Amino acid sequence: MSNETLTVTDNRTGKTYELPIDNGCVRAVDLRQIRTGPDDFGLLSYDSAFLNTANCKSNITFIDGDKGILLYRGYPIEQLAEHSTFLEVAYLIMNGELPTSEQLAKFNHHIMEETHIHENIKVLVSGLRYDAHPMSILASAVAALSGFYPEAKEVKNSEIRRANMMRLVAKVSTIAAYAFRHSQGFHFNYPNSDLTYCGNFLTMVKRMNEAKYIPHPTLERALDILFILHADHEQNCSTTSVRVVGSSEADPYSAVAAGIAALYGPLHGGANEAVLRMLREIGHVSHVPEFIRKVKAGEGGRLMGFGHRVYKNYDPRAAIIKRVCDEVFEVTGKNPLLDIAVELERIALQDDYFVARKLYPNVDFYSGLIYEAMGFPVNTFPVLFAIPRTVGWVSQWEEMISSPEHKISRPRQIYLGYGHRNYVTLEKRH
Ligand code: CMC
Repeated sequence: MSNETLTVTDNRTGKTYELPIDNGCVRAVDLRQIRTGPDDFGLLSYDSAFLNTANCKSNITFIDGDKGILLYRGYPIEQLAEHSTFLEVAYLIMNGELPTSEQLAKFNHHIMEETHIHENIKVLVSGLRYDAHPMSILASAVAALSGFYPEAKEVKNSEIRRANMMRLVAKVSTIAAYAFRHSQGFHFNYPNSDLTYCGNFLTMVKRMNEAKYIPHPTLERALDILFILHADHEQNCSTTSVRVVGSSEADPYSAVAAGIAALYGPLHGGANEAVLRMLREIGHVSHVPEFIRKVKAGEGGRLMGFGHRVYKNYDPRAAIIKRVCDEVFEVTGKNPLLDIAVELERIALQDDYFVARKLYPNVDFYSGLIYEAMGFPVNTFPVLFAIPRTVGWVSQWEEMISSPEHKISRPRQIYLGYGHRNYVTLEKRH
C-alpha cells in the first residue's frame, strides 16, 4: 500500500478512513464518505477565503512565498525582467515556452495588428461620465467587447479561443489608454502597430498635438519591466474570478471583465493607488513613526503595499521595482514621496509587529511612485496593473477551459439560517 495517504478517524463514529494524498493534497470530495449515518450529507471542508485550498492544477506560474521565489513557466522573474520583453513573456506565459525569433516576430506582429478597436467602443467610453474611474471604464469596455466578437462564446474551439486571447491582450492596452484620455478630457489617439507594445501604449496615453511622439526609452523600458512583473501571479483574487466566471463557459471577455472588477479592490490591484494616497496623507518623513504607531494600534488602517497572502518574505517583484525606481527618477526627477516610502519600509522591517506577521513590501509598494513620476494619475494605477495581467488571465482561463477536469465552479456552504417555516401573510405580520 502506498504511504501517500492520510488516515483519519472520525471520533463521532469511531470509523477510520484512508484518504489518498496526491501532489501534497487530499481531495475535498474524499471527505464526503465520512458520514455519521445515511442521512448525513458527508463531511465538507470549510475555507471561506481559500486560505488552504487548491482550486486547480496549473503549469503556468510558481510562487514560493517563504523563499520569495516567482517563476513563469519555470523561468525566474529576475531573469525575465533583466533579459526579456513584455511581449516575449506574454508569449511564454500563453504558450508555455520561450519563442524562437521567428515565432516572436509573428506574435508581436499579430498582437500589434490587433490593437485597433471598433469605433463604437470609443463611443461607449465617451458616454461615461468625465470622472468615471478608469477601472470602471476598462471593465465596462472589455465586457462590451464580447458583443463585438460573438463567436468568442465557442469556448471549446481552440482556434477561436486563441484568436480572442490575442485580441484581449492587444485591445486592453488601447481601451486602457482611452480610459486615461477620457478621464483627462483629451482626444483619443489611435494605436500604431509599428511601435512596441509599451511604446504604443505610452504614445496613445501621452501624445497631444506633436506630429510624432517618441517616448523616452528609459521610461518605455521601465514600463515594459513593470508589465513583465505583473503578467501573472497564479491563483490570486482576480485570476480566481476569471476562472470561476469562465467555468460557466461564459466568453473570455466576460470572464476577464470579472477579473478587472476583482482587481479594482484596494486589497488587490487597487493597493498601488492606496499606497500613493497613504504616502500623501503621511506627508513628511517625520510623520512616519506616528503613522506606524497608528497602524499597529488599529487606528490608521493598514500599511498599504505591505503584506501578502502568499509571500511571507520580500516580494521579489518589489525588489526589482525598487531598482527600476532609480532609473526612472534619473529621467523624471525624484518623486518626493520616495523618501517617505523608504522610511516606512526601514521602520516596518525592524518593527516586531511587522516582523512577527512576516509583512514585507509587496509589488504595489513602489510601483505607484514610478507611475506617478511618469505622469499617471493615481486612479490609472490599477489599470496599469490590469493591462499586463490580462496575459495571465487569458492563459489561466484557457488552462481551465481546456482541462479534462473542467467543471463549473460551484462551492458548498454551511447553512446557519432558519429551518423550514411557514409563510405568514402580510396582515398577520407585526
Ligand atoms: N498593515 C498592517 N497589518 C497588516 C497588514 C498591513 N498591510 N497586512 C496584514 N496585516 C496584519 C493583520 O492585521 C493580521 O494581524 P492579526 O493577526 O493581529 O489580526 C495579520 O497581519 C494577518 O493579516 P490577514 O489580513 O489575515 O492576511 P491576509 O493574507 O488575509 O491579507 C493582504 C493579505 C495583502 C490582503 C493584506 O496583507 C493587506 O491588506 N495588505 C495591504 C493591502 C495590499 O498591499 N494589497 C496588495 C497585495 S499584493 C498585490 C496583489 O497581488 O494583489
